[in-house]
Amino acid sequence: MMLMNNRFVFVSVAVLLSSLATTGLSAEPGAVLTVNVNEPKAAVSPTLYGLMTEEINYSYDGGLYAELVRNRTFRSDWTGILNWYLIERGAASAKVTIDDGEGPSAALARSARLEVTKADAGSPAGLLNEGYWGIAVRPNTSYQGTFFVKSSAEGPLPIRVALVADQSGKVLAATSVPVSGRVWKQYKFEMRSGEAAASAENHLEVTIDRPATLWLQLVSLFPPTYRGRPNGNRIDIMEKLAAMHPAFLRFPGGNYLEGGRIDSRFDWKKMIGPLVDRPTHPTTWSYHSSDGMGLLEFLNWCEDLHMQPVLGVFAGYTLDGRVVKPGPDLEPYVQEALEEIEYVTGGTDTRWGGLRARDGHPAPFPLRYVEVGNEDNFDRAKTYDGRYAQFYKAIKAKHPEIQVIATMPVTGITPDVVDDHYYKREQGMFEESKHYDRADRNGPKIFVGEWATREGTPTPNFGAALGDAAFMTGLERNSDLVVMAAYAPLLVNVNPGGMQWSSDLIGYDALTSYGSPSYYAQVMFASCLGDHTVNSSLTGAGDRFFYSATASANKLCLKLVNATSSEQPLTIMLQGPGAAAQTARGSTLRANTTWATNTIQNPKRIVPVNSTVNVQGGRIVFVAPAYSIQVLEVDLK
Ligand code: AHR
Repeated sequence: MMLMNNRFVFVSVAVLLSSLATTGLSAEPGAVLTVNVNEPKAAVSPTLYGLMTEEINYSYDGGLYAELVRNRTFRSDWTGILNWYLIERGAASAKVTIDDGEGPSAALARSARLEVTKADAGSPAGLLNEGYWGIAVRPNTSYQGTFFVKSSAEGPLPIRVALVADQSGKVLAATSVPVSGRVWKQYKFEMRSGEAAASAENHLEVTIDRPATLWLQLVSLFPPTYRGRPNGNRIDIMEKLAAMHPAFLRFPGGNYLEGGRIDSRFDWKKMIGPLVDRPTHPTTWSYHSSDGMGLLEFLNWCEDLHMQPVLGVFAGYTLDGRVVKPGPDLEPYVQEALEEIEYVTGGTDTRWGGLRARDGHPAPFPLRYVEVGNEDNFDRAKTYDGRYAQFYKAIKAKHPEIQVIATMPVTGITPDVVDDHYYKREQGMFEESKHYDRADRNGPKIFVGEWATREGTPTPNFGAALGDAAFMTGLERNSDLVVMAAYAPLLVNVNPGGMQWSSDLIGYDALTSYGSPSYYAQVMFASCLGDHTVNSSLTGAGDRFFYSATASANKLCLKLVNATSSEQPLTIMLQGPGAAAQTARGSTLRANTTWATNTIQNPKRIVPVNSTVNVQGGRIVFVAPAYSIQVLEVDLK
């Protein structure tokens, strides 16, 4: 965020949050917002803002999951091995095929067979990997690699691994890995880049300089990761997520949880343990998952950002419309869910908790929320009442402390929480901002598990951010009922073909990432949440002005959204003994049009601008700029 002092705001950026009282300007008060800072109204959930995630838009592979090698397990189609290309430099001669009978594990039972019939030091042969729309190489950086190899030669054979610039051919980092023997072995290596400028226009080369036959599998390369976790996450994206102060992570979907068919659901048991034991699987979003982001990696992500997991369990409905009938047919999936919960929460003396310890995390994870399925309102056979009840009873019997979330209203049993989803245009979200003002307080709590104003592609524009901010004021006002909410989708790779769903919060390519205006609205709203709403009233503003007023013991948080093309003069009257502040901190996000946006090339066009705001005798007099989202944090006595 940029920081500006008050005077600079007045002189240079008249449209920003500005205290007219201190400049001596006079204006009609226009709207009046009266806030009784000492009159609590309703609780605000400490877990209101969190993250929703799934493998969509290359969110993990080619996104958050830092793996640089694309298709490290050598899947192929009629065109050949995907993302890999043969290198025959100079006089070298080689061919590459898939060997269905050779692999390092039952999960990865195939491999790439590289047969080099002619090669020497000046004419090497091997394979090239294109990465996820390139491979980011930064200066003076270490890259950790590994592969499984079996060779035809008994004696030592050096394999050269290099990161190479696409245009110049310059070798940016390289190493030689001596392999030997006719059995599968895993080799680890490290290489370091020099002074070259950061770029994503690079590829990986794996070559040899003599005739031999090699079988290769699970060729992997990682840059430095967030907190240095092996098999970890991209630093820039994790830092952006951390700035959102998320309280929870809903995973693994979304449609990705359900799968296109039963055998392509999120089958968590195939996504734990060593990577070589993970078979990989097709996603519902038209590409294949490496499954490097498995159950423990999601949990580590939670731990790294201090989020609680909201674990979605497969509930017997798949996107091809099939359902597993409640009763005995469903029971194996209920058991699968109970075992998954044990993997997350069980002691090391339990079967699945013991496996988690084997996988590197002996301490159990806290787990308060489990969600049964996803969007089961699409189940045309209408079996969710029965399926939810079966999961609910089994989970509660073992874990009475767990809140069991339903994905739609159910009858016969009262769910602890129901997950509501909203995907609308700006105008629709303005209307939905009032949705929970009228809602019943005697039923289940609400989790808005997916929501977004869908305008702008690949990432939302400022109009969408206004819709989002308006909607969030409604969530805050009603957070006694709405205990959690998460924008979706969270991530998008902005390269051609990277996106399956438009309007995604954070965009990136192989090298850099950026926040959309909607992202900054989330950061701002989460920065000042409060733990209760306070009594307040607004007069004189139109129906495109939205606000919320929350507080904790020593601060008041005001969210002000002017979704019109005109300035809105506003006087805020702070009432009550706590309202003796002299100054307040303001943060403003604004744009000239609703179509304005950030992009990968122009990532900082629309960012929050911080300021200080004078409070005089409990009054703040200012002008809310046209198309603006503001957060005011006022110190209370
Ligand atoms: O967020 C994109 C998709 O929208 C989710 O996978 C699904 O739950 C919803 O329909």
